[in-house]
Amino acid sequence: MIVGAAGQDGSYLAESLLAQGYEVCGVIRRNSVAENQDSRLGHLGPGLITEYGDLLDPGSLDGLLQEYQPQEIYNLGAQSHVQISFEVPTYTVLTNGVAVLNLLELVRKHLPDARLYQASSSEMFGDSVDGDGFQRESTPMNPVSPYGAAKLLGFNAARIYRASYGLFVANGILFNHESPRRGSNFLTSKVVKTACEIAKGRKTGLELGNLDSMRDWGHSRDYVNAMQLILRHEVAEDFVVSSGATLSVREFVQKVFRRLDLEFDEHVSQNPKFMRPNELPYLRGDSSKARQVLGWSPQYDIESLIDEMVDHWMGRV
Ligand code: GDD
Repeated sequence: MIVGAAGQDGSYLAESLLAQGYEVCGVIRRNSVAENQDSRLGHLGPGLITEYGDLLDPGSLDGLLQEYQPQEIYNLGAQSHVQISFEVPTYTVLTNGVAVLNLLELVRKHLPDARLYQASSSEMFGDSVDGDGFQRESTPMNPVSPYGAAKLLGFNAARIYRASYGLFVANGILFNHESPRRGSNFLTSKVVKTACEIAKGRKTGLELGNLDSMRDWGHSRDYVNAMQLILRHEVAEDFVVSSGATLSVREFVQKVFRRLDLEFDEHVSQNPKFMRPNELPYLRGDSSKARQVLGWSPQYDIESLIDEMVDHWMGRV
């Protein structure tokens, strides 16, 4: 069962599990635009069972858990946009934090032998970095956004239920991960999509917020593989999943613009609208544990990620 199946990661995960012969139930939220409901899932065909459910409606999940009795549950549902978490902090904390507690309670009561993957985030580290410039499983967590604080509640709830009740609950602490399926209000998709529009003469400018923050970007396809390894590991543990490389927003934009023969200075400007009240300045993940213990390694690097996103958006705009 994938809670949040209609998202970027949910769609790649469903695709991968179906290809391995799993029976997959994807739980999706009602969307007012019916076409957007399962736009990332349509290509998977009838093999994927989809059901309406909502993390804020524990009764809906209760019914689905009892009906399907899943052996593996991936909780990928969330209000996933950090800037928007400053606009809707209560909703964000309820969805990303309190709802995880509700889900854990349901699993404890009805499916204590099931395995649960909780989508935790590098945003939980906030402004905390180890002396060597990396964040890893042992790095203290000091979130700087409602999103990060809410995810930290979900992370801790998972650890508490694991320790208190012996549930198999594992956290993946995933650093930023992108793809052609990334929503276009996240940095990478916004940049690639707009750059393609500029290259085709449909737009002239790209307005961004903070250009100096540093991120560790990987590909969603690689990261959903890590989720599966985490869930199938013999013991429930927490793992950082990251590329290990970091670059600034400005450097990311420059790479995309170079790929399309565009001049950064001609087109990029800053708009305070896209600045956050507080910014996480630097992310660089040390995923040695996942690489050594799970044998995980990413197939994509930043260049192949950008190539795939550019090819996708050049075909779309
Ligand atoms: N979205 C956005 N839009 N970000 C911008 C913009 C803009 O116009 N201009 C600059 N940025 C900067 C943000 O301030 C941030 O430093 C960086 O680009 C990346 O922003 P996002 O792509 O929105 O991702 P995020 O880092 O805030 O959060 C993502 O990664 C987390 C893991 O660290 C999300 O996927 C989270 O759900 C995830 O947990």
